[in-house]
Amino acid sequence: MRTHVLTGGAGFIGANLARTLIDRGDTVIVLDNLCRGRREHIEDLGAQGRATFYHVNVDNETENSAAWQQIAKVSRPDEVWHLAANSDIPAGVNDPAVDLRDTFMTTFNTLQMMKHHDVKVLRFASTSAVYGERVAAAFSERDATIPISNYGAMKLASEAMIRAATESFLERADIFRFPNVVGLPATHGVILDFVRKLHFDPSRLDVLGNGKQRKPYLHVSELVGAMMFIAANSPEKFGVYNIGPEDEGVLVSSIAEIVRDTVEPKASIVFGKEDRGWIGDVPQFSYSITKLAELGWHPQYGSEAAIRRATTEISAREAELNGKR
Ligand SMILES: NC(=O)c1ccc[n+]([C@@H]2O[C@H](COP(=O)([O-])OP(=O)(O)OC[C@H]3O[C@@H](n4cnc5c(N)ncnc54)[C@H](O)[C@@H]3O)[C@@H](O)[C@H]2O)c1
Repeated sequence: MRTHVLTGGAGFIGANLARTLIDRGDTVIVLDNLCRGRREHIEDLGAQGRATFYHVNVDNETENSAAWQQIAKVSRPDEVWHLAANSDIPAGVNDPAVDLRDTFMTTFNTLQMMKHHDVKVLRFASTSAVYGERVAAAFSERDATIPISNYGAMKLASEAMIRAATESFLERADIFRFPNVVGLPATHGVILDFVRKLHFDPSRLDVLGNGKQRKPYLHVSELVGAMMFIAANSPEKFGVYNIGPEDEGVLVSSIAEIVRDTVEPKASIVFGKEDRGWIGDVPQFSYSITKLAELGWHPQYGSEAAIRRATTEISAREAELNGKR
């Protein structure tokens, strides 16, 4: 039985990861400031006595250090999964302080605490955004990293700091470069955005950008499976892995149609004029997951199947929440 610290563990991916770790018999300590995550995502896990929650700003050195002191009184973590970050890319473009604080300083402070408390294994939630924009070929882990958003820049800086830490106190670091991830409990993202827009105005769905953006999507259940697989099987001390579907991705116009057909089939879809949804958005990319496939992991779903499954899940959940509101 291992003890895991999950920063951002009350968020969308963190809550799924916490559940999976607990299901296999481990113990989880969640550090989250609930700026986007929610207590109820992990409440039932706490009731089972297998998850402990600390409400803390991980970017704040004093608060974070106090939380780690409390943790040290009761347990000795074996590893950290660092997922706390800003997940609103446009917010970080408007104000670079957002990604400095939530995406980079959370990494800096987490590394400081790991060094201080002698925790030597780190798993990091990175992103396709570190590559930047390039339409020619699928991104591979060996490609240049030229991010076009502050979010991507601060994730890349985090990766670099983690790499440096493996030269001193870290014995092992896995860097997971996620694609777009979908499923429950969604806290942000294209499907949730479309479902909420249609609930607000059932007659039309406004799409950010011209709909021709094409990106890879993975269901969160598969993402968590891949992270666990890499953690168990990667032979590298510092391993960087793309995680994604084995396809070219799906068009945003197709996602709009899938969500519209599920939620409000009579609504009209209204596209914007820009080739991208927001500044810092990478409108077209695909992923090479050859390295992960060679290690032995393959996804079960393609991008479109992941979108369809997540649309069913998210629209049902939102309808239920609307009924309660
Ligand atoms: N969802 C995706 O498509 C996607 C894609 C690429 C990378 N990622 C990365 O995966 C990780 C998890 O993303 P997610 O989709 O679950 O997002 P999320 O917003 O649901 O989860 C992030 C969590 O971090 C917490 N948090 C943010 N800043 C914090 C701070 N300063 N101190 C403490 N807690 C803080 C939030 O409250 C939230 O619970 C993030 O690092 C994100 O960058 C996600």
